[in-house]
Amino acid sequence: MDKYAVIGNPIEHSLSPEIHSAFATHTDQNLEYERLWAPNDGFVKRVESFIKDGGLGLNVTAPFKQDAFNWVTELDPLATKAQAVNTIQIDGNRRIGFNTDGLGLVADLKRLDWQLENQKLLILGAGGATMGILQPLLDVGCEITVANRTYSKAEALQLLYPSIQICSLDKLHTGWDIVINSTSAMRVGSKLAVDTSVFEHAKCYDLTYSLDGTTPFLDSLIDVATDTSEGLGMLVEQAAEAFFIWRGIRPDTQSVLSQLRVPQPLRRFIAGAKCHKCGADDRIYVEYDDLKTPNTQGCLACGYRESRDGTTTVQIYEPK
Ligand code: ATR
Repeated sequence: MDKYAVIGNPIEHSLSPEIHSAFATHTDQNLEYERLWAPNDGFVKRVESFIKDGGLGLNVTAPFKQDAFNWVTELDPLATKAQAVNTIQIDGNRRIGFNTDGLGLVADLKRLDWQLENQKLLILGAGGATMGILQPLLDVGCEITVANRTYSKAEALQLLYPSIQICSLDKLHTGWDIVINSTSAMRVGSKLAVDTSVFEHAKCYDLTYSLDGTTPFLDSLIDVATDTSEGLGMLVEQAAEAFFIWRGIRPDTQSVLSQLRVPQPLRRFIAGAKCHKCGADDRIYVEYDDLKTPNTQGCLACGYRESRDGTTTVQIYEPK
């Protein structure tokens, strides 16, 4: 059977096997898809043994996108621009590197019906994730500003992409159509110090994905943004681009996205409650799977969440 895989470290939580298996089922393709773990210095060895076993293609995730970029024998123009490879096609002795992240993001923004052409788009962060999405966003006509905590990194990015504007994170103004969080701040547990006025009247997208439709970054904008989305759709769309490269067929992404996403919980705020973690007033919520059964309590201000377990009620708020 034709063999494909995703390689990363860590890799056990990757959703790629579920996504590609669903694509294969829906399009009647006979293939198998597995997770490959490699030590941080073991990308080449693991990939070469996978190819020896008949592997035809790979998705590449952190921390190996640069190793893949250096290892392939040919590069697609978007991978060259991104200086990173997230998809590899094996064709005889050819190892062709692609980057489908930016195409995946653009496809998801279109699925959300967010207008892109001539829109003022702010990207927070100037690291590898931003490099992966810039060219496809420029290609669809976005007017892009990149803001980064370390200004020199934004300057270096502007040398590679002269049509972007740059700004330092603490000098941002308001007036954006779309804001994309491409920083690793919340993933690495640090605070993203951007004034919430920056997000007023903007649609906000977080490249981080979640199965319940929200992230700590988006939760903090609930009162100011006009629309929000986390990155699960981008994950599915970039996978669909890879599937198309390998199999020449475009799978239906919407059905796979619905299959992955758990139903969005209903959220109700508790009037007069104070968070016992951060002391914020009126920011405590309860989430329900349905209208009857509360399952989680949390604080929107500090992001603290706690589950209710069976008959035990874990009270995380104190009445005023
Ligand atoms: P990735 O591959 O996820 O983009 P990366 O290349 O390490 O990871 O880049 C991380 C990005 O998140 C950088 O732009 C970084 O800003 P700096 O260049 O100033 O380090 C940004 N970032 C990480 N933590 C942040 C924080 N707490 N506030 C603002 N930006 C942060």
